[in-house]
Amino acid sequence: MLLLLCSGICHLLILVFSSTNSSNSVLLQTFSLTTLDKRNGTSDSVASDYVNDLRSWVASLNASLYTGEWQNTFSFIYSNGGSSPPGVTDENNSYVMVLPFSKTEEKAFNDLAEDDKLSLLTLYEFLDVMVRFDGATCLQPLTEHKRADHELHQEKLYNQMKDSLESSWCRFITKKWSLHIKNTGPVLNTRLESKTSTNGSSPNKFSFSDFANGILIVYQVCNIAQGPFVMRGDVFHRIGGLHNGFGRMALLEFFVRSKGELKIAKLSNCSWTHEIARVDRGTLEGSNDVTEYAAFGNKFNILRIVTNNRIEWTTCVSNWKLCPEKPYVKPTELSSVAAPICCGIVLFQMLKDITWALTQLGVDYRVIYGTLLGAVRSQTVIPWTCDVDIALTKADYGNSSTYSSIAELLRTKGSHYYLGISYMGMPRGHMLMAPYIEVDTTLFFDGPDDLEGNNLLFSSDIEEAIQGMLPVSSGWRERRYVDFYISPSVWLNGSALAVINNEQFVTLKDIDYELTNWYGKDYLQPAHRGEWFGCLD
Ligand SMILES: *[C@@H]1O[C@H](CO)[C@@H](O)[C@H](O)[C@H]1NC(C)=O
Ligand SMILES: *[C@@H]1O[C@H](CO)[C@@H](O)[C@H](O)[C@H]1NC(C)=O
Ligand SMILES: *[C@@H]1O[C@H](CO)[C@@H](O)[C@H](O)[C@H]1NC(C)=O
Ligand SMILES: *[C@@H]1O[C@H](CO)[C@@H](O)[C@H](O)[C@H]1NC(C)=O
Ligand SMILES: *[C@@H]1O[C@H](CO)[C@@H](O)[C@H](O)[C@H]1NC(C)=O
Ligand SMILES: *[C@@H]1O[C@H](CO)[C@@H](O)[C@H](O)[C@H]1NC(C)=O
Ligand SMILES: *[C@@H]1O[C@H](CO)[C@@H](O)[C@H](O)[C@H]1NC(C)=O
Ligand SMILES: *[C@@H]1O[C@H](CO)[C@@H](O)[C@H](O)[C@H]1NC(C)=O
Repeated sequence: MLLLLCSGICHLLILVFSSTNSSNSVLLQTFSLTTLDKRNGTSDSVASDYVNDLRSWVASLNASLYTGEWQNTFSFIYSNGGSSPPGVTDENNSYVMVLPFSKTEEKAFNDLAEDDKLSLLTLYEFLDVMVRFDGATCLQPLTEHKRADHELHQEKLYNQMKDSLESSWCRFITKKWSLHIKNTGPVLNTRLESKTSTNGSSPNKFSFSDFANGILIVYQVCNIAQGPFVMRGDVFHRIGGLHNGFGRMALLEFFVRSKGELKIAKLSNCSWTHEIARVDRGTLEGSNDVTEYAAFGNKFNILRIVTNNRIEWTTCVSNWKLCPEKPYVKPTELSSVAAPICCGIVLFQMLKDITWALTQLGVDYRVIYGTLLGAVRSQTVIPWTCDVDIALTKADYGNSSTYSSIAELLRTKGSHYYLGISYMGMPRGHMLMAPYIEVDTTLFFDGPDDLEGNNLLFSSDIEEAIQGMLPVSSGWRERRYVDFYISPSVWLNGSALAVINNEQFVTLKDIDYELTNWYGKDYLQPAHRGEWFGCLD
């Protein structure tokens, strides 16, 4: 009967159930490096059935849903600074619903999905009573809709609920130049009776039937929300509202600005739909301003963002100690997993993504210049190079739909790129996401409640590696890019394969002739060992 006493006990349960392996020497078994951006609100979701089940229990909400005046106390704030209804100014007696996507049309409350209306009402009812909370949010969209089991054992049901709560962000801190976000936080429950009798701090006795009947509400106490959230208008405005120019980082930028002082309740009996949890770049959508991650890193001196399942960097590194000119080998030691990501790896990911898309589209390409030189000299991307060089036929090069098709195709795969004319009339490709490593980060923390992280996150090697990376430069060259060139017809007469990091790419037939032509007969001799920072064309 583990679950009957909540508050203190629930907290203990978390410790037991997610106990971690704190042995530092453990090698990571499953690990992949990727630069896919999954920050679209879905990646951390865990399927759960009890929420569906609860929906039937709240059918009674429907009455107040369609009659209540409460809807008028909400304004919607979009990531591009828009709001609906426009110009809402009553900051004292209102709630804002903050959304991670831009306002593109006048969306009224009635345009929301039924489930989102219910969620909004649930949050409203919660905040109306729980006056010590600044805001509240629901669970991330559920990825599966399994049939709920009414006969589910109480303990199992409770664990499902706890798992759901712990599958999205809850608490963050910044430590040195690192931002740590975890899904941990005390799980409490309350009966929403009246403003005076309940403030959530008293340990209520957990009653399954009260929970099942929607009388008892279980929530996690957080200082950050992942995805949409509701907040008291005055608190939201006091912190300064949403700021433009941070793209996908807009909501995170708001929370970091709040310094972790907000009290946000994450409720277990409501969840957002995908429609409302989608993420875009806000004011930057469709623009060639590619420095949003750098802008975020620069503003707060943040280099690294550590979450449950990945470590992300707001900039890449190209120093020769960390980034040798050798084929890439996935790091397995924890210490290297937590270290900065080399720009060569970022360039390689861009090369892979874009040539994949070109191949899918049936567009002929050749890998040329420095990218070919790296392939021949060391079978990798030269670590301190700025770009990847790709030649296209004159027709494809001059066809703007080549670039939009590549971007669109990659977007369907979850990779975000800007492709188009971005500098001096040159077509370029830029990655609109920060490089990251997918890894279970529990081993970096001493238990589920530890937000600081252990020595592995701040080893002397890592501290040395990040020397000089701050402040994060917002120059677009530092983000690396793909350059496109027009292929002379002779380059298109035949082809060969170049091997880069054990993968094959199409290149020119007369490799030695072309490299000698571009770089002289000593092209195999590295001309530079590379700077600590910056890059060379
Ligand atoms: C911790 O790691 C050790 C060494 O790899 C392993 O033998 C052990 O099973 C792990 N324990 C847990 C609880 O994962
Ligand atoms: C709420 O009531 C309306 C009108 O009776 C109905 O159309 C709608 O399906 C109901 N929604 C829910 C979530 O029960
Ligand atoms: C909000 O409250 C403050 C202080 O009570 C008051 O000065 C201000 O006029 C109020 N704002 C609105 C829009 O009512
Ligand atoms: C509400 O919280 C305060 C501390 O903020 C506490 O002193 C008080 O006892 C709580 N009230 C109830 C009814 O739990
Ligand atoms: C969640 O629980 C609260 C508290 O009883 C209730 O008011 C609300 O209607 C519930 N919402 C949903 C979506 O289950
Ligand atoms: C979110 O990402 C997943 C894969 O990570 C993808 O299947 C889904 O379509 C994306 N959703 C949106 C709204 O971009
Ligand atoms: C440009 O490319 C699109 C396909 O991406 C193709 O349909 C179109 O015919 C091309 N235009 C020219 C002028 O080649
Ligand atoms: C293409 O290359 C072949 C040799 O591989 C050569 O015989 C031919 O003349 C070339 N054609 C053109 C148009 O350059």
